[in-house]
Amino acid sequence: MQLRTMYKNWSGLKGGYILAFVFFLQANAFSQNIIIPVETQHSALVLQTNSNNNLNIVYLGAKLSDKKEYEAITAQYKQTSEYTGVSNAAYPASGSRNLFEPAITVTHADGNNSLDLQYVRHETKKLDENQSLLTVTLKDPVYDLEVRLFYKTYFKEDVTEQWSEIKHNEKGNVVLHKFASAALYLKAESYWLRQYHGDWAKEMQPEESRLTHGIKTLDSKLGTRTDLFQAPVFMVSLDKPATEEEGTVLYGALEWSGNFRIELELDNQDNLRLLAGVNNHASPYTLKPAEVFTTPAFLSVLSFRGKGGASRQLHAWARNYKLLDGKGDRLTLLNNWESTYFDFNETKLKALLKDTKALGVDLFLLDDGWFANKYPRNNDDAGLGDWQENKTKLPNGIASLVSEAQANDVKFGIWIEPEMVSPRSELYEKHPDWVVKQPNRKEYYFRNQLVLDLSNPQVQQFVFNTVDNLFIKNPKLAYIKWDCNAVVYNAYSAHLTNQSHFYLQYVQGLYAVLQKIRKKYPTVPMMLCSGGGGRVDYAALQYFTEFWPSDNTDPLERIFMQWEYSYFYPAISSANHVTDWGKQPIKFRTDVAMMGKLGFDIVVSKLQEKELRFCQDALKTYNTIKPIIWQGEQYRLQDPVSNAVAAVLYLNEQKTSGVIFNYLVNNRYGAGSERPIRLKGLDPKKRYRLKELNLYPGTTSTIDADKSYTGEFLMTIGYNPDVKAERASVVLELKAE
Ligand code: DGJ
Repeated sequence: MQLRTMYKNWSGLKGGYILAFVFFLQANAFSQNIIIPVETQHSALVLQTNSNNNLNIVYLGAKLSDKKEYEAITAQYKQTSEYTGVSNAAYPASGSRNLFEPAITVTHADGNNSLDLQYVRHETKKLDENQSLLTVTLKDPVYDLEVRLFYKTYFKEDVTEQWSEIKHNEKGNVVLHKFASAALYLKAESYWLRQYHGDWAKEMQPEESRLTHGIKTLDSKLGTRTDLFQAPVFMVSLDKPATEEEGTVLYGALEWSGNFRIELELDNQDNLRLLAGVNNHASPYTLKPAEVFTTPAFLSVLSFRGKGGASRQLHAWARNYKLLDGKGDRLTLLNNWESTYFDFNETKLKALLKDTKALGVDLFLLDDGWFANKYPRNNDDAGLGDWQENKTKLPNGIASLVSEAQANDVKFGIWIEPEMVSPRSELYEKHPDWVVKQPNRKEYYFRNQLVLDLSNPQVQQFVFNTVDNLFIKNPKLAYIKWDCNAVVYNAYSAHLTNQSHFYLQYVQGLYAVLQKIRKKYPTVPMMLCSGGGGRVDYAALQYFTEFWPSDNTDPLERIFMQWEYSYFYPAISSANHVTDWGKQPIKFRTDVAMMGKLGFDIVVSKLQEKELRFCQDALKTYNTIKPIIWQGEQYRLQDPVSNAVAAVLYLNEQKTSGVIFNYLVNNRYGAGSERPIRLKGLDPKKRYRLKELNLYPGTTSTIDADKSYTGEFLMTIGYNPDVKAERASVVLELKAE
């Protein structure tokens, strides 16, 4: 889905759709039992009108070969009484008969709070061979208020994106108290939620539990970097917890970089209602007549082949449709954050540029601390917002570093945190009205800084100019790391007249800036970073080529964290750096970082000769295997939680080449790969050889590279990577003969 603004005119669907067929039904003639199946390759969501002309969800599950049979589904359920006829509404409204959590709550222009949404019409457009868009129009019979529900399907990937538009023509403004993107309704014997919480350096911590009756809410109210404490992604297994390869599981994710709210309500009939959207916390929206309120999209994938199946579908979708340059290339890099922090100057950086070349990565990334003069950025308590080179550290500016990089035959990238301002900065002094803060209250800081008011178009222009000026002055600039380290405290905008619109319009403003940047600089790689994880979602990833999962780069921690992130985001989007975090040797750290987009943040000059040689060789190897890691299918073979050895396979589409990463994650006496690890996804008939990669200089492999095995053997019996304390990390290349 392209970014859509909340305020665009009601102009219908735009864009170059390939219109294969449209069908259109008027309610009057067929108001009973209109059935609308929304199908993908393997799944179906079936909508149906009831006798009151409300649109309900009668099925979400495996696709049936005969569409006509969807009609017979409802009669097969003999559950407890259904009092309302709308408990399974496609978009539950409040104030009429609905007794459960609503997707939408409004106060009409006359002060009335009731809403009843009835089916008016629907149409399906085939956008191309793989994508279709269903639009259903619902309308209140009493008030002139319409909701349009959108279901965009990606057939091959089994992904559906849902969003809605709300519009009215009442005699005054309507207040939207709740405005979910989507509702879903599931029937199963039991429901198992896998959700994620976290904090700095502890991102993506999973919890899996059986849902009990009542409402489980996953939400964020942080304003910016909103997934710091809770992620906007989750999965629900039906009937029993899905395993990697077995079970029915629904993945869900909200495509929104601001406050979100996901609700899972297990009702009196033991059915599960799922609502997802922008968080309505402190955000009632005043909708003018004829204005269109468009929600962000909620995406879901339903898999009948376990968590692994769902994640492979989602990865394919992300690379094909959503992640910026998802099928493209990425740059390996050397970052200076942990090797210098704020303590650097031109001489030091020029030496690092030589190290960049010596190491063999593509790019040098200059981190925080290069800017501000009146309040120099020598610490994290000053300078944000003053994006001019610091004259003491960089007397010849960024330009001289960019040309020095060129002289060393490497590219140059730079860190910015353009949404933020330090209280000690010239920007704050000049434009206190651009800062998010309450006029009559004490200022509160998060990492000693404040957030700029992106709901203000002048601030949007300032943020755009910050990026634009860097490129204008340095056309060879090849990479941006876009950081975001503070949450919103004391939410207040000096620009807005309606403060309730602040959280929404902040994100809208952010997207407006990112759109403008991408219009002018469509391909330059950008990392979405946020003082660690705490900011990744599929709306933002339309503008970014990669994200920073966590400041915690301890490789042992990363095995767990990357495992969880990898359910939702493909390896190509995960920026993994080799740093000095953790106690493991450089080989272990590098192997783990290779399971994504590889970078380094170490003092290259301090590496032992063998360590440097290892890194140089590993980078050469990485350049040969990265297409498989980035574009291949990921199979999680053994999880790090219940096994001493964790293993992950990336396999190319033809099933002829793969890379297997194996790690010791338990340091008890004798822990290692006692039993073989079964591979997945191979061609049973092909013969494969396994060869060890990333050997540390001076060591030899214990894997026999001359021996070959059938795919059947490797998937039935497995292979043993011989992981043990002295071989704690083993990378194997898999090649079909
Ligand atoms: C937080 C990021 O996660 C780090 O990598 C680094 O860029 C610092 N910010 C710089 O302030």
